[in-house]
Amino acid sequence: MIYFDNTATSFPKPPCVAEAMVKFMNDIGANPGRSGHRLAIESGRIVYNAREAVAELFQLADPMRIVFTSNVTEALNLALHGLLKPGDHVITSSMEHNSMMRPLRCLEQKGVEVTVIPCSQQGRLDPADIESAIQPNTVMVALNHASNVTGSVLPIEKVGLIARAHDLLFLVDAAQTAGVLTIDIEKDCIDLLGFTGHKSLYGPMGTGGLIVGERVDLNAFDMIKCGGTGSRSEHENQPEFLPDKFESGTPNAVGLAGLNASLRWILTQGVDQIRSHEIRLTKLLIAGLKTIPRVQVYGTLNAEQQIATVSFNVLGKEPSEIGLRLDEEFDILCRVGLHCSPASHKTMGTFPAGTVRFGLGFFNTKEQVDYAIAAIRKLAEEVK
Ligand code: ALA
Repeated sequence: MIYFDNTATSFPKPPCVAEAMVKFMNDIGANPGRSGHRLAIESGRIVYNAREAVAELFQLADPMRIVFTSNVTEALNLALHGLLKPGDHVITSSMEHNSMMRPLRCLEQKGVEVTVIPCSQQGRLDPADIESAIQPNTVMVALNHASNVTGSVLPIEKVGLIARAHDLLFLVDAAQTAGVLTIDIEKDCIDLLGFTGHKSLYGPMGTGGLIVGERVDLNAFDMIKCGGTGSRSEHENQPEFLPDKFESGTPNAVGLAGLNASLRWILTQGVDQIRSHEIRLTKLLIAGLKTIPRVQVYGTLNAEQQIATVSFNVLGKEPSEIGLRLDEEFDILCRVGLHCSPASHKTMGTFPAGTVRFGLGFFNTKEQVDYAIAAIRKLAEEVK
């Protein structure tokens, strides 16, 4: 079987991830930060280790500014609903996933003004367009780091400088890039960064988080959830300090044990090495697909300017047919359709049918890419 759906969720995971989770379930199991017995302390230590590993990956000085969530969608909702209020203006791009677009549209109905900057058909964003869209009531720029449809990387370094120069908050959705592209929160002027554990961090589903920068007073508008944190139990009011302010309820400690293991694995491998492998495979894939008549590849067509996510179509066939036949006849698993990002497909001109998407990962090989190119060639040859 060839798994090319790493953009949705990476698979397989490094073996250390399941090992850490099984160890947690069998030997630790207790609630972190609540009781004072030794298993609770060990459980709390594992959760803190995961926080430290996230901090190391993003060169973050204070691990307590990481709020763990169940995925990046929850992290983005926390940032957007926690900061934007009626009358505020926010700037985003036309290559966003619905995890960004839907909370923004929801806030729009409550009086938040949203400007969507059109990207090029290849998924490129011109930072100058962000600057031109700034208004007196603009408070935030909110962008994904790389598209989950074309893989194209947005110029967050340049946009970060623009946002900082205008004293705007900068929210980055790193769902597709955490663990595969170097992100330096300080240097890139990022105030809020959402990440998820189950994609390029190679951790389990149900893990993720929001990094909350020093300049951010999250909770300006609305508290998302209140409840037990294990801290300041004598008070009926929610603690005001991070991360407890936003981490009510028993956390997914077993998931965080797995995330801790996957982050340590990434730090040992090195983000650059993971990236180099993915660039090699992406180059081969794009070059191979481009040689096939009736195949249209979307995006930058430049492996250096995108992550290992490649969208394409076999002209004359529906993406859904290609996906089904790849699965049933060639044992290749991928995702087809709109990939929860209708805005991207409207930008690319592939709405409403969408595309076939290959999402490569660290455990894919050159041989698998060659085999998949041959499979697409066969399917494309059927079109008269
Ligand atoms: N956001 C995930 C994807 O792109 C699920 O497939």
